[in-house]
Amino acid sequence: MTDQATRFETRQIHAGAQTDPTTKAVVTPIYQSTSYVFDSAEHAAKLFSLEEPGNIYTRIMNPTTAVLEERIASLEGGTGALALSSGQAATTFAILNIAQAGDHIVSSASIYGGTVNLFQHTLAKLGIEVSFVEDQNNPAAWQREVRENTKAFFAETIGNPAVNILDIQAIADAAHEAGVPFIVDNTIATPFLIRPVEHGADIVVHSATKFLGGHGSVVAGVVVDGGSFPWSEHVERFPGLTEPDPSYDGLSYTGALGDGIAFITKARVQLLRDLGATLSPASAWQIIQGIETLSLRVERHVENALAIAEWLESRPEIVQVNYAGLASSPWHELAGKYAPNGAGAVLSFELRGGQDAGRKLVESVKLFKHLVNIGDVRSLVCHPASTTHAQLTPEQQHAAGISPGLVRLSVGLEHKDDLIADLERAIAETSR
Ligand SMILES: Cc1ncc(COP(=O)(O)O)c(C=O)c1O
Repeated sequence: MTDQATRFETRQIHAGAQTDPTTKAVVTPIYQSTSYVFDSAEHAAKLFSLEEPGNIYTRIMNPTTAVLEERIASLEGGTGALALSSGQAATTFAILNIAQAGDHIVSSASIYGGTVNLFQHTLAKLGIEVSFVEDQNNPAAWQREVRENTKAFFAETIGNPAVNILDIQAIADAAHEAGVPFIVDNTIATPFLIRPVEHGADIVVHSATKFLGGHGSVVAGVVVDGGSFPWSEHVERFPGLTEPDPSYDGLSYTGALGDGIAFITKARVQLLRDLGATLSPASAWQIIQGIETLSLRVERHVENALAIAEWLESRPEIVQVNYAGLASSPWHELAGKYAPNGAGAVLSFELRGGQDAGRKLVESVKLFKHLVNIGDVRSLVCHPASTTHAQLTPEQQHAAGISPGLVRLSVGLEHKDDLIADLERAIAETSR
């Protein structure tokens, strides 16, 4: 019923879920329990040695969270997933699972400002160096940055906030040529619009806070294992996955579990055990609720976003609209290849009046809420240069596609005519 043969819309409701065997509840219950009773000492030992699957302690697994993990793994076409307390935790875990002090990562420069901070400052403090590629769809630009100690390539499938489309296949090929996995952040696209594993990406991360949850009410993150990277063919580069883990009774993740689920199992039983960035079961339940209507919401998000992008493009006050769904976008062709059902609901635009007009606009809109989030049923607006990307240097802002007057919208599910009327009135006020 919920295997990969069934369609996305069916799996978003059923994958990973079962009727509760005790109560017969049809909706996944919130298992608000820290721990689980062992049948015997032998049972406990088998759970700890990973010989038998089962629940031990909610810091590392929980039956409600497991439904969320299985559902997202199914929607992304991966072998397994790990839910975490935020999108930032998901990116951090994806990197720390394969890189340590002395290692190196290559990343696109066109990514969420919080991830730039994580990479440039926090990972640097941990001894992991990150090189940034400005021309993210040019495989040669990535290859130039590869070193002997490089452990991964990282990019966003739809960049925040430049809303550029990643050439996933081309950069995945470059990563594989360098013998490293390609980790992609699929937050803005969601698996309904882009499934990166189908195009060669190895690991997918999400801020489930955004479109997966969908209602602006809960912070969560997910790492998905595509199951495709041949870790055991790169024993020297990834000893943490292939060699015995002294913190786990000398277990070799690839040796005991195979390449397909070694990465995601290690992230759970080693990193989550030690770092504890656990998602609460109640939050996991809310994300499950959100995912049940993901395709319907994203279809409407995309319809509204395209209508607004087209309207903005027709306005004399607007210099440029960034939205890959527009024929004028340099990423329109790639959007047709990777996101044929729509280029998402985040778009950005530059007002003729520059920074002052941008700041005035975010204060003048009424329906669009002025805040820093995306992927809510409500329409949202922000000024990236003074908020989400404010900690970046002007050069980094430029590399991420952020000009001083850029305004970012996350288009919600209100009636598009009301949204356009709100923008029309606010834009008129900026030129007063
Ligand atoms: C593309 C992208 N990735 C990751 C994150 C971080 O997610 P979270 O806020 O859930 O930690 C964000 C947050 O805005 C984002 O936009």
